[in-house]
Amino acid sequence: MLANNPSKQTKHIERDFSNILKYKEKKSIRDLNVRNKQVLVRVDYNVPLDEKGKITDSRRIKNTIPTLNYLLDQNCSIVLISHLGRPGGKIVESLRMNPVHEKLKEFFPGVNILKTDDCIGEEVQNEAKNLKEREMLLLENPRFHIEEKKNDLDFAEKLSRLADVYIDDAFATAHRKQASTYGICSFFEEKGFGFLVEKELEFLSSCIEQPQRPFTVILGGKKVKDKLGVIKYLIGLADNIIVGGGMAYTFFLAKGYQIGRSVKDLSKVEEIKEYLKDDTHETKIYIPKDILVCDDIDDPKMIKSVPISDIGENDIGVDIGTETIDAFKKILSQSKQVVWNGPMGIFEKKEFEKGTKEIAKFLVENEIFTIIGGGDSAAAIEKFNLQDGVAFISTGGGASLDIMKGSLLPAIDCLSDK
Ligand code: 3PG
Repeated sequence: MLANNPSKQTKHIERDFSNILKYKEKKSIRDLNVRNKQVLVRVDYNVPLDEKGKITDSRRIKNTIPTLNYLLDQNCSIVLISHLGRPGGKIVESLRMNPVHEKLKEFFPGVNILKTDDCIGEEVQNEAKNLKEREMLLLENPRFHIEEKKNDLDFAEKLSRLADVYIDDAFATAHRKQASTYGICSFFEEKGFGFLVEKELEFLSSCIEQPQRPFTVILGGKKVKDKLGVIKYLIGLADNIIVGGGMAYTFFLAKGYQIGRSVKDLSKVEEIKEYLKDDTHETKIYIPKDILVCDDIDDPKMIKSVPISDIGENDIGVDIGTETIDAFKKILSQSKQVVWNGPMGIFEKKEFEKGTKEIAKFLVENEIFTIIGGGDSAAAIEKFNLQDGVAFISTGGGASLDIMKGSLLPAIDCLSDK
């Protein structure tokens, strides 16, 4: 249902795009002389692992192949650095880069790929020094050192000793100001972004700066506070904003509905009321009219669909309802471009996957130009095996959200100007 009172004017509000277009002023891998050099590539190989430590989705590794192949063609020796998980500044055996090392060897069968047990220190420096042309060296997880997250400059300087040129191809970490993504740039003359970062920034920024209209944004997931910045930036720019998933319940509160035991963020209710009250723009904000509720997420004995005016005090909202699915499909059928960030319900569970699955299938079957922000929405598309039917799936959750908020990504800002 329509949750706000958009103005009838037909003019879109001008937005400042300078932050998200800043990358155009920065050097890309093509602008740097890398031939025969040793290159440190910051990648984001923060991949999901199962209980046995096996990689369950290697997209983040696969998507850096164009950059690595380019460097191999230029006879470079390549030092790779990525974090994995959040070890909190100490060694966590299950977060070593070994599974990534094995996957890299699968992707580059003819290339000698070595791995170190640390990312700084004499031994690592020697291994880097002995690296030959067209060889790769994968460093151990830098987050085993507390200095990484603190953006410690001594630590960054030690990392920088391992190569002559720095390439950032870690789009999914570009919103983090850390030693290997940010501080390190002070110690390199030559630094630019790789092909994955370029592709991500081109897709995400152009769909905001020059959207095909009608432009619809779908927002979901449970972290409402992460998404309000997107609403703030895209209000007046998008034609429609559809709100579903866990974040919708805080919107219901803002509209005066009871939400039982559903997820909420009380600190955001007033801010949402402001967005819904604002009638100076023409963006329509839609929220669900019915939802699926249950009594227990892990062991549901009761699951039913209810209008949002009938949510019981013990109910937990877990998905959008069927009427809502139809209503959202109608808006999507009239859209020329869709950007989707966040699932419509707890899609990881079969009983609660319908809303997310139906919306995803609808977008693909109707060939609607769709860009998927990373994180959970990307995982959902993969789960339903629909990844080949969308225009683009970002590898970055937080980083793609920051673009949708119009923010400057620090790891791009610190690269060399053209
Ligand atoms: C991600 O998966 O979003 C990135 O790798 C960043 O990870 P972080 O949220 O632990 O910094």
